[in-house]
Amino acid sequence: MEPFYIPIILGSVRRGRQSPKVARFLAERMRRTGRIEAEILDLAEYNFPIMEERLHHRDDPPPGVREFAAKLARAHAIVIVTPEYNNGYPGVLKNALDYFYPEYKRKPVGIATVSSGDFGGIRCLAQLRLVMFNLGAVPIPAAFPVPRVQDNFDDEGNPREPLFEKSAASFLGELLWFTEAVTAQKARER
Ligand SMILES: Cc1cc2nc3c(=O)[nH]c(=O)nc-3n(C[C@H](O)[C@H](O)[C@H](O)COP(=O)(O)O)c2cc1C
Repeated sequence: MEPFYIPIILGSVRRGRQSPKVARFLAERMRRTGRIEAEILDLAEYNFPIMEERLHHRDDPPPGVREFAAKLARAHAIVIVTPEYNNGYPGVLKNALDYFYPEYKRKPVGIATVSSGDFGGIRCLAQLRLVMFNLGAVPIPAAFPVPRVQDNFDDEGNPREPLFEKSAASFLGELLWFTEAVTAQKARER
């Protein structure tokens, strides 16, 4: 069976950012399942300008937007790794998400939230799920919250607590369940 293509949108562009550690960790664990082709889509590299209009209403999109759209369109599911800023998600993430719409249709979305505090970014989780609902995606019930990221992950993206291996396995297991179910239904409709 072909692996599922699941890109990871990395929603932090902050100087000295910690969230890439979590994105790298998840990408590696996704690959290790042997069932997922994972790729990190780093918003710092795409550097999209402020969204003036959605891609499907524009014939002059900024550089990188069409390429990003093609990756979302090809995706069987999507993972978002986002830091929590002021109880919400970063503006750069919302700006990027707003460029697209048809690309998300009925795609399972797994959300990993990252914070330097004790709560693991769960206050932005609920808000981001609502955004993804509105975009026509299917946010999954499981999540991957990472508190005190600066202590809990080393620079290579290895967790210092075994707990994260367990919760990543459970999070990715749920994501695969929904990805399989949605992909099978889409195949039946073809
Ligand atoms: C503008 C800003 C607002 C923040 N607000 C919160 C917050 O509401 N809750 C929280 O737990 N951490 C907050 N933080 C700290 C982040 O959790 C911290 O930056 C963490 O390392 C994860 O994000 P990173 O990828 O930016 O490193 C904030 C950080 C910034 C820069």
